[in-house]
Amino acid sequence: MKLPLQSLLVVTSTLVSSATSRSSTVIIPSTVNDGPTISQYISSSPRLDDNKVLNINATAFGELWYFDVVSSTRPDQALLVAFLASATEGYTPGAAVSSILSCEVVVKNGDNVYAAAGLAQNAEISSSGIGTSGVWNGTGCSFSATKDLSRMTIKLLPPFEITGSITLEPIAPPTLPCGPYGINENMEYAPGFGWTSIVPYAKTTVDLQANETAVQFKADGYHDLNWGDIVFSESVPNYLWARGKLGPYSMVILAGVDGNGRQRTHIPRIPFTYLT
Ligand SMILES: *[C@@H]1O[C@H](CO)[C@@H](O)[C@H](O)[C@H]1NC(C)=O
Ligand SMILES: *[C@@H]1O[C@H](CO)[C@@H](O)[C@H](O)[C@H]1NC(C)=O
Ligand SMILES: *[C@@H]1O[C@H](CO)[C@@H](O)[C@H](O)[C@H]1NC(C)=O
Repeated sequence: MKLPLQSLLVVTSTLVSSATSRSSTVIIPSTVNDGPTISQYISSSPRLDDNKVLNINATAFGELWYFDVVSSTRPDQALLVAFLASATEGYTPGAAVSSILSCEVVVKNGDNVYAAAGLAQNAEISSSGIGTSGVWNGTGCSFSATKDLSRMTIKLLPPFEITGSITLEPIAPPTLPCGPYGINENMEYAPGFGWTSIVPYAKTTVDLQANETAVQFKADGYHDLNWGDIVFSESVPNYLWARGKLGPYSMVILAGVDGNGRQRTHIPRIPFTYLT
């Protein structure tokens, strides 16, 4: 059970060296598209967070860049942030959507729960090195990553009602449904649903303002990318998702039954160590 730090560095430097200095930018429109949604389920690039779905239609799950932060010492401090490109998920599911692009934030601080959401005019996904950034234009919400993915920062600015920043410093390597991240690997957890745990575990600093109250804490952060070309409830009708720490491992558990009734379980034990 040794040397998670070294294996992390090896993974990262392999990814960095195979990533050319190419950078790319994709604009996701806010409108629902006609015709088939096209999803990518085989990894083809070291840029784990690049968008994987084209032509999001009315019945597709689309794409979700998901983040959460939980304090292991103060369970009453937690938050989640969702950057969505989806007509079937999100905070107005089923309703006629004026934009499929939403940013949603829920913050728990003691007994108070603060929530805010906004719809974007477009989303700009751009990559540099192995890091990917996303701007949900019009909401004030964005996430960004350094070229080597050693840091991710979520920024919330007005007009968003919760403002401030959340900074993740990953300390566990990315994983796919069947093992560590690599090129030409399968990312399809269940038919029609892809999942990559890009930051299974991160030292995280939260510095937010919600209803004129400062919400500041350091805790354990997590980030994954979820996507699909059919409705999520059809790909994985039943599931349990959990994450946590057990000794020197960070655990991410996704157990479920897919649309064909097949059991799918993913319980990687991801070694980590603090880099302090
Ligand atoms: C959306 O795309 C999926 C995958 O290609 C397809 O199965 C589905 O029928 C499409 N839905 C619509 C409304 O076009
Ligand atoms: C925050 O402010 C909004 C709007 O004034 C109010 O509806 C909400 O209840 C407040 N939430 C908390 C937790 O104070
Ligand atoms: C944001 O969207 C508006 C309206 O579509 C557009 O004029 C503006 O250029 C966009 N900004 C970015 C940074 O994409």
